[in-house]
Amino acid sequence: MQLMRNELRNILWLGLLLGGLILAILVGWHQVRTVSPAAASAEVIEQGRQVYADQCASCHGAQLEGQPDWKTPLPSGRLPAPPHDAGGHTWHHPDDILFRIVREGTAAIVGGGYESDMPGFADLLSDAEIRAVLAYIKSTWPERERTYQENVSQPH
Ligand code: HEC
Repeated sequence: MQLMRNELRNILWLGLLLGGLILAILVGWHQVRTVSPAAASAEVIEQGRQVYADQCASCHGAQLEGQPDWKTPLPSGRLPAPPHDAGGHTWHHPDDILFRIVREGTAAIVGGGYESDMPGFADLLSDAEIRAVLAYIKSTWPERERTYQENVSQPH
C-alpha cells in the first residue's frame, strides 16, 4: 500500500514536470512567432533605406521630397520625380503597382508609348530589395497614408 502511494506520487510529480515543460515550450514558441516579424521588418526597412540612398535618392531626394516643381512637366515633356513622402501620390498606389513600377519602370507600366524618366530596376535590384525599398518608403508615412495604402492593396 505504501509502495503504491509512493509510485502514485512520483507519477503525479512527473506529470506536473512534463506539463510545465510543455507550457514553457508553447509560451516560448508563441513569443518567437509574435516577436520575429517585427524584428525582421526592422532589418528589411534598414536594408531598404540603404537601397533608397544608393538607387533612388538622386532623383527622388534624400528626404523623399522629390524634384522641385514636380507637377510641371520638364522641357522634354516628361514628368520630374515625385516625392515619396505624404505630399506625393506614391501612397495612392497598391503594392503590386508600386512593385511593378520599380521593377519595370513607369513607361512599361503605363504603356501606349508613354515616356518616362523612371527607370526599371529589374537588372539592378532583386525582388527582395525592391520590396525592402518600398517597405522603407512606407515606414516614413504617417498613419493615415499607411492605412490608406494598406486598404487599396487588399484584394477586392
Ligand atoms: C533617374 C531618375 C530616377 C531614379 C534613379 C528613380 N526614379 Fe522613381 N521616378 C522618377 C520619375 C521621373 C518618376 C515619375 C515618372 C512618371 O510619372 O512618368 C518616378 C516615379 C516613381 C514612382 C511612382 C510614383 C507615383 O506617385 O506614381 C515610384 C514608386 C518610384 N518612382 C520609385 C522609385 C524607387 C523605389 C527608386 C529607387 C529604386 C526610384 N524610383 C529611382 C525618376 C527616378
